Order: sequence, then C-alpha cells, then structure tokens
Amino acid sequence: MKIKEIIDLYIKKIPKDDIYLLISSFLNCKKLDIIKYYDLDIDYSKIEKLFKRYENKEPINYILKSKEFYGLNFYVDERVLIPRFETEILVEKVINKLQKIDNKKLNLLDLCCGSGNIGLTLKYNLEELNVDLVDISNEALEVAKINMNNLNLRVNIINSDLFKKLNKKYDVIVCNPPYLAEDEASYQTDKYEPHLALYTKDGIEIFERIFKNISNYLNPNFLIFLEIGDGHYKKIEKVINKYLKNIKINLYYDYNDRERIVIIESL
Ligand SMILES: C[S@@+](CC[C@H](N)C(=O)[O-])C[C@H]1O[C@@H](n2cnc3c(N)ncnc32)[C@H](O)[C@@H]1O
Repeated sequence: MKIKEIIDLYIKKIPKDDIYLLISSFLNCKKLDIIKYYDLDIDYSKIEKLFKRYENKEPINYILKSKEFYGLNFYVDERVLIPRFETEILVEKVINKLQKIDNKKLNLLDLCCGSGNIGLTLKYNLEELNVDLVDISNEALEVAKINMNNLNLRVNIINSDLFKKLNKKYDVIVCNPPYLAEDEASYQTDKYEPHLALYTKDGIEIFERIFKNISNYLNPNFLIFLEIGDGHYKKIEKVINKYLKNIKINLYYDYNDRERIVIIESL
C-alpha cells in the first residue's frame, strides 16, 4: 500500500499531525520529508500496528518512544511517566533562579527523576552543576541512563527510596513526586503510565515523608523546587513549615491557573 493511501485512510479519523508523526517514526524520517515517500509501497500490516495502538488510546509518545521537553528530545517508554508541559515551568523557574547565582558549582538533586527530564535538562543548560538523579524504580532509572547517554551528559544515577541511600548534602533539590490522590485516576494515565509515578494515597503523604528528612540533606543555603497537585498547597505548606524554619515559601500557578510550583528558599 502506498504512503499516500495510508494517509487518506486515516485522515478522517486521526489528527493529521499525528498521522504524519506515526508515519515519520515508521519511515525514520522527518515529518516534512514524508511527501518524498508518498508513492512508496509498504507492507500495510506493519504500520497498521502503530495506528491500532494509537486508536487504542496508547499515548503517542510511547508509540514514538520520544517526548520533546524544554527543547530536548527524551526517550520514553512504559517504564516512565511522559514528561508534562507543566514541568517545563518548574525547570524554567530553576534556571532563572540559578542563573542569578555566581557560583554554579552547586550540588543539585532531582528527587523522583523518572526519565531524568528535569535533572538532565538542568545539567544541559547549566553545565557546572553536579547533578544526582534519584528514583525508587530501577526500570525508570534504566530510561534515565538512556537519556543521559543520548544527551551526552554526566550525572549520578541512584536507586533510592527518597533519601534512604543518600549521604550527601545539596544546595538545590528539585522534586516532581507522584502527587495525584488515588481518586484522581483517569483512564489514559491509569492504563498506560506507571502507577508508582502518579499516585499516592492522598497526594500529600509523600511530601510528609520528604520533609521529615530533608534537613539532613541540605546545605545551610538552599533552594527547593516542587511540583504539586492543584488544591494541595495549603496542606503542603503546613508540612513544610512543620519541618523547616527560617525559610521563604512562594507558590506559582500553571497556565490553567492551577497551583503547581512551590519554591522554598533558606533565609
Ligand atoms: C511524577 S513522576 C516524575 C517523573 C519526572 N521527574 C517528571 O517530571 O516527569 C514521579 C517519579 O517518582 C518515582 N517515585 C515514586 N516513589 C518514590 C520514592 N519513594 N522514592 C523515589 N522515587 C519515587 C516514580 O518511580 C516516578 O518515576
């Protein structure tokens, strides 16, 4: 079957952009170059598998095995959460803050790193940082390692349940933990993305575990950047104030006006 005929077959069912993405991934070419292959005859049964997965609502990034994040290309598969657009706001905030600090040889921890999108993007943009990536899931860390190598970056990759296996102090901790409560499950995320990356019982308890121990892993001058769930701020603020003193806390909203980023600075 010709490529052009395959496009025509799906054009009324699937957004054009996604048809081109699936075909370009199959042909291993740029979307723009597909036009050169319009008359290419291929075995339809092979590409049909990709379209079937798409029609079964598998996230397109798992099918393509890639996700663009803050201008970089990350390998992703079912072992990790697909990086979200909102998390780019978190990364932007970290970069803006750290750019203002003269000495950038800081120890930075990306806690709950998943694919490594946060820590690796920061290392890519601020080369002098010493970055540790931590996750409890060995499978996620395998993906983080693929991304570290693809981006040609050097960071430490550590398997740990939060701080348990860490023995260092950090100037900066960035964390996007699983913050959805179990009753916030949705069909798409539930079926394909790792539960461990998304849910805790109430979306708050993981912050209690993090802040209970965090002071042992912080240098006197520190910055903490968190991504949180909408409507969770008041409870998380309480947790933070319970365990850390002499700090300034700021809350930021995402583009949908939802509570999303918390920055904590030592005073
Ligand atoms: C919301 S995902 C974030 C992934 C990535 N940082 C991002 O921004 O897309 C949360 C990650 O936390 C990890 N995780 C869950 N519980 C953990 C724990 N107790 N200690 C360390 N990592 C944990 C999960 O495996 C998952 O990769």
